Formats: sequence, structure tokens, C-alpha cells
Amino acid sequence: MLDYLTVVRHPLVQHKLTIMRDRETSTNSFRRLLREISQLLAYEITREMEMTTRRIQTPICEMDAPTIDGKKLALISILRAGNGLLDGVLELIPAARVGFVGLYRDPETLQPVQYYYKVPTDLQSRLVIALDPMLATGNSSAAAIDLLKQSGATNIRFMCLLAAPEGIARMKEAHPDVPIVTAAVDERLNEHGYIVPGLGDAGDRMFGTK
Ligand code: URA
Repeated sequence: MLDYLTVVRHPLVQHKLTIMRDRETSTNSFRRLLREISQLLAYEITREMEMTTRRIQTPICEMDAPTIDGKKLALISILRAGNGLLDGVLELIPAARVGFVGLYRDPETLQPVQYYYKVPTDLQSRLVIALDPMLATGNSSAAAIDLLKQSGATNIRFMCLLAAPEGIARMKEAHPDVPIVTAAVDERLNEHGYIVPGLGDAGDRMFGTK
């Protein structure tokens, strides 16, 4: 079993994250680094996938070789910043099914508002990995997981780049069965709901909008 919270402290992840936090880092580099880190986080989050064996013939002899069991996993991007993680994870797991949850944060209430929802069928029999780089208040992440559970998902994990203690607490209260894998846990949220020290608005930084 994955722990409820896994912080991936690998030097490569931490080094890349520091470059991403730096306000001088370009959109181009930010996007590339996010893709690279997403693959390292994916390595951790899929560590305990169910395995089976398949009889194959090597050039030398027959063997029962390990292979991933069960249906293709589902990657769910929480729009829009989730797409930055999705690109990298899909490179690593190209056969994954993909879904999208569109939620934006009302700037006044900081509550999530749904504007799009399309996910693969049979979520109940897939490992589902929800992707959102910033676990801030946790409101939109918890709402996205609510929707996935309503669609039948029972085996869900949550991948983010940065998490605030407030977001982790919110997720743990709403979804204690959904392990979180992140590259770092920061200090706190500021009065605008941004993670401190954080990296700013992940969507703006990866897409070059402002
Ligand atoms: N979303 C972001 O993109 N950044 C934050 O710091 C918090 C939420």
C-alpha cells in the first residue's frame, strides 16, 4: 500500500522543482521540467500496480515474464494545469485512458465550479490517477475526486507537484482512501489561496498566460 502522503525527495525531482519555482525560469523550461518531474512522480505513484506474468520466448528460452495486470489505467487531468502533468505521464504510460475534469476556482469564494467532465468508461475496474500540479485549498481536488467516485472509481491516487498543508488536510478529511504523491509540501496558503513559497500560478507559468 502507498502511504497516504508520499513526498518524492529524490535529488533530481528537488533540483528540477527549484528551477521551476524561480520566477526567472521561462515558460519553455517550466513546461519541460514539469513534464520531466511528472514522469518521476509517475514512477512512484505506480510503484504498487498489480502484476502478473506472461509466457514469452526470449531468443534463448521460454520464461514467465512480469507484466502489469488488469485494465489500462486512467489518467484524469484536472484542467487546465493538470495537462502539464498529463503530457509527461502519457509519454511513460502511452496506453493509458485519459479523462478531463474542468473546474475553476471562484476567486471570491475559492470554491470549485464545474464546467467540463469527460472520463473513460469502466472507472470502477481501473487504477485512476488524478493530476493537478497544485494542491492548494484542496477544494477543487476534493470536488474532482467526488466526481470520479460518482463515476464508479474506487482505486484512485492523486498526483501533484506542490501541496499546501491546508490542501492535504482537506483531502484527507474528504478522501482518506486516496493517496497523494507530491514533490514537496510547502508552508501555507496566502490570503489569495496561493501556495507559499510555491511557484505562482502553475497554469499561467506553463502556458505563458497572465
Ligand atoms: N493554483 C496555482 O496555480 N498556484 C497556487 O499557488 C495555488 C493554486
